[in-house]
Amino acid sequence: MKKIAITGIKPTGVPHIGNYFGAIKPAIELANDPELDSYYFIADYHALNFIKNNEDLNRYTREIACTWLACGLDPNKIVLYKQSLVPEVTELNWLLCNVTSKGLMNRAHAYKAMVDKSLANGDDPDALVNMGLFNYPILMAADILSMNAKFVPVGEDQRQHVEMARDIAKVFNKRYGYTFVVPEALIQEDVATIPGLDGRKMSKSYGNQIPLFCSREELKKLIAGIKTDSSLPTEPKSTDCTLFNLYKLFASKEQCEQMAKIYANGISWADAKNALFEMMDSVLSPMRDKYNYYITHYDEVEKILTEGSKKTQIIARETVARARKAMGL
Ligand code: ADP
Ligand code: TRP
Repeated sequence: MKKIAITGIKPTGVPHIGNYFGAIKPAIELANDPELDSYYFIADYHALNFIKNNEDLNRYTREIACTWLACGLDPNKIVLYKQSLVPEVTELNWLLCNVTSKGLMNRAHAYKAMVDKSLANGDDPDALVNMGLFNYPILMAADILSMNAKFVPVGEDQRQHVEMARDIAKVFNKRYGYTFVVPEALIQEDVATIPGLDGRKMSKSYGNQIPLFCSREELKKLIAGIKTDSSLPTEPKSTDCTLFNLYKLFASKEQCEQMAKIYANGISWADAKNALFEMMDSVLSPMRDKYNYYITHYDEVEKILTEGSKKTQIIARETVARARKAMGL
């Protein structure tokens, strides 16, 4: 039988190019591995602890589902579903609460970060903490264990949560007999850090991002704003610059070698920016078109999410029944 891989995607709006190369593209490549049955879901239950109004949650859910489809997630190969359409997860969450010590949750980085923030504001340590945040790792364990997942492809920041899911599975299996597959995090170590417009790591928190699906005009404007030095057009240019580093992501090896030669022979920064724009736009425009299609035909996306959720429920229902029985319910 094939091993199951699962990952949750937080609905936090349209991603940038750093998210695409650092997270989305590798996750889709991994899920296309024929040895795996992959389940990717929009983690909307998880988002409830930080998105505080329904309009935002709806919009972000839509945007993120359309993003993954536009980036090449094939729903015939990877099951795409919406967490809140699989309420079995919340039942398992409750069952797992009873095998999870509070001490384990006290150690969670996301919770500790909020405590630090509250303290820095001069407030009570738990001022910014709701129980959704505090119990977040248990809900995440329920996502993973309900699906009998062996592998959990995530970024380094989620390693601790997957470790907690492992701990919870082991405690349960020890107390009630073997019930859950003990999962493992799959962390891609070799993912490059994508530079932002100012050369630092591209990040929402630095405001230096290039949105994945911005218009051609906006893309052109953003690239035009990238800082360059004051060397003359005829002077050779170093390839150790933001323009070339971005170019490399989108171009083939041969195209990169050719561009490196042009840099060495001297090119005006305006021409270098134009070359980057054309290269990026040629890769991004088919994705942008697909994204715009899905956003305006969201009923098709909803159908994919509903069907994916039904497939997921078949497995989750069975696992929850097994856990209930093991516990004496
Ligand atoms: P941001 O820093 O913009 O808030 P997130 O923390 O939401 O981005 O990142 C979501 C995913 O995208 C994570 O897996 C993260 O590792 C990846 N990612 C974000 N920015 C980059 C980047 N500049 N280069 C490579 N990967 C990135
Ligand atoms: N916690 C993950 C994040 O913040 C999202 C997530 C929720 C998840 N449930 C999961 C990831 C299950 C992997 C498996 O990005």
